[in-house]
Amino acid sequence: MTFETRLRDNAVQTEALLAELLSGESRADEITRPRNLLDAMRHGVLNGGKRLRPFLVIESAAILGGDSTAALRVGAALECLHCYSLVHDDLPAMDDDDLRRGQPTVHKKFDEATAILAGDSLLTLAFDIIAAPETELPDDRKAALVLALARAAGIGGMAGGQALDLAAEKHAPDEPGIVTLQSMKTGALIRFACEAGAIIAGSTPPERQRLRHFGEKIGLAFQLADDLLDLTSNAVAMGKATGKDAARGKGTLVALRGPEWAATRLRELVKEATDLLAPYGERADILIETAKFVADRQN
Ligand code: IPE
Ligand code: IPE
Ligand code: MG
Ligand code: MG
Ligand code: MG
Repeated sequence: MTFETRLRDNAVQTEALLAELLSGESRADEITRPRNLLDAMRHGVLNGGKRLRPFLVIESAAILGGDSTAALRVGAALECLHCYSLVHDDLPAMDDDDLRRGQPTVHKKFDEATAILAGDSLLTLAFDIIAAPETELPDDRKAALVLALARAAGIGGMAGGQALDLAAEKHAPDEPGIVTLQSMKTGALIRFACEAGAIIAGSTPPERQRLRHFGEKIGLAFQLADDLLDLTSNAVAMGKATGKDAARGKGTLVALRGPEWAATRLRELVKEATDLLAPYGERADILIETAKFVADRQN
């Protein structure tokens, strides 16, 4: 199976689960779920997307022998959290974007209050999915996943990184400052995706650390590629507006060091990521291809 087929197959499975988790059908628990808010959540999640983070959870768990059904659910949980970050990132108070995944952003299709609440509800749904009895894992592994995800999403991770990203529009950070903000705003969730595979598999601390380190490298590469594509690509290919980083004065390495430097640094990060997986031999082939995909992607 080619890498692309595998990525697509995993995306189909993840989307089927997400559609079920966000289904509008009445449920046995009889919890009232306001229809408009549920529709906004569905729009924020079931609207395409590469589903890269769930793929990383599934493939990281696979090379360490983790349960694939549990990995699918943890991947879906992480995707809900990622989609929440996008819904809020696009708000007028943040990047003020109208287009996401080729469709109107959630606040454009609904309204700002609904987009804020849809984001809040997707964030909490992520933890619900992991803790729910349907995620069949030992309780200590669930607790470890919840703790790692909370840290990846919160002030020391994605949300903190988003705060630094907005502050950087006013005071341009230096290179280490940009690396820190990117490793928080984008790296943290990608790092969690890889580390989650090791937690699901009940791996040893050094193995967990190795996967975390791999995630750190490809997380940095992922945002570097995003920043390059913002400069070089277009809205049709990306499904979101481009040229916005320069317009808003975002602190990016592409702005600071230029696109040629960024392309070289991308290659280095892929090499560093790949080298970390050497102990796994051929078992790591898919994750190595994923690192290349992160750098070479066109959207
Ligand atoms: C976009 O993430 C936000 C960044 C961290 C740069 P993706 O490029 O993974 O977005 P989707 O999920 O495929 O739409
Ligand atoms: C977003 O970074 C990172 C998040 C935490 C959502 P960007 O603001 O560069 O992402 P895009 O370009 O809007 O997808
Ligand atoms: Mg942003
Ligand atoms: Mg943005
Ligand atoms: Mg961007």
